Amino acid sequence: MNILSNFSLRQLNTFGIGAVARFYTELFSEEDLLEILHDKNLRQQAKFILGGGSNLLFVHEKLDYLVLKNSIPGIQLTREDDQHVYIRSGAGENWNDLVTYCIQHNYGGIENLSLIPGKTGASPMQNIGAYGVELKDCFHELEAIHLQDKRKDVFRTSDCRFGYRESVFKRELKDQYIITSVTLKLNKHPLFNTSYGAIQEELERMGTTALSVAAIGQAVCNIRRSKLPDPLVIGNAGSFFKNPEIPKNQFESLRNNFPNIVHYPLANGNVKLAAGWLIEQCGWKGKSRGNAGVHSLQALVLVNLGNATGQEIFDLSEEILQGVFEKFGVRLEREVNIL
Ligand code: FAD
Ligand code: EPU
Repeated sequence: MNILSNFSLRQLNTFGIGAVARFYTELFSEEDLLEILHDKNLRQQAKFILGGGSNLLFVHEKLDYLVLKNSIPGIQLTREDDQHVYIRSGAGENWNDLVTYCIQHNYGGIENLSLIPGKTGASPMQNIGAYGVELKDCFHELEAIHLQDKRKDVFRTSDCRFGYRESVFKRELKDQYIITSVTLKLNKHPLFNTSYGAIQEELERMGTTALSVAAIGQAVCNIRRSKLPDPLVIGNAGSFFKNPEIPKNQFESLRNNFPNIVHYPLANGNVKLAAGWLIEQCGWKGKSRGNAGVHSLQALVLVNLGNATGQEIFDLSEEILQGVFEKFGVRLEREVNIL
């Protein structure tokens, strides 16, 4: 294996932060990974798994890790019946390439998740979600290798404990496994989900007469491009915070003071708030602190305005967190992984 030392990760994270990894290598197969895990010189070295770097903020300039960039390829149909196809993707496949492959074959289920950056292997980490669909809705199973025991385990949906931007891999099993493949269960006779946000409106604007997975995928791409900054133009990691969930009684008293508060009732009786709205109401939208800023179209997205350090962006997030808590009594939680 080609192990590089003092390797800059600036090009490998969408915030564009110039952290330096003590060691770095790229994995193209499970065999590459097992070779590393069995290497007696590398066995004790702490390891960090890198996908597309689109949900990460490096706050340390030097990372005392062996960074393993997951580039395991391959998309295959492994099984099918009258209703479903099972598509297995290597963890290193680009997520949107997988979505595009499914749309081209008219396999339904992930078209609402079009254009989310990153690799397929990271998609279960936070159960990626957008426009009314989450990964768990079309997930079948994943394979992952335990970094210490070197054994391969298969995780089905219930093993993953998926929640809103949550899974067992962010909690109890944090940093223990590397996901090597993800298998999706998709519909041959798609059921369309157009209920969320502006999809319907965008389909009308596009002049769509017959619904299809391709049309929905296109509508989602159009909406996303109009709202979210392109990381190739301005560094960011998507939503920096999660949308907070609060008890109904807390919501009712908040609404007395803020009648226009954007909210979504949940099936469990709690209420979800739009973090972007809370942040905007605190006056942060379009504001900056040095090279770290709050995007002018989406207050939930923090941006690197130039040569920001990870610490500058983190400090801004801390100030926002405190401001929102002081004004609304609601504690935001970061979605982005901090290293
Ligand atoms: P990375 O950022 O490289 O890693 C994220 C975490 O997963 C790290 O802790 C890493 O160690 C771990 N990890 C990565 N790969 C593996 C693996 N194979 N095995 C074990 N651990 C692994 N997210 C949404 O849910 N919905 C959205 O709509 C959305 N929109 C976005 C828009 C923009 C413009 C951007 C920049 C980001 C957006 N995101 C969104 C966040 C991000 O795209 C997703 O979280 C994505 O799944 C991260 O993938 P990645 O490969 O870049 O992961
Ligand atoms: N809003 C404001 N001001 C803002 C931004 C938003 O008032 O600056 C309010 C608006 O009322 C808007 C509402 O918040 O209607 C919701 O905004 P939006 O539809 O843009 O979605 P979001 O809640 O900000 C979430 C996800 C996104 C996902 C979209 C679409 C989280 C943390 N974020 O954003 O995911 O793409 O919905 O489903 O749940 C990500 O996770 O990185 C991400 C981009």
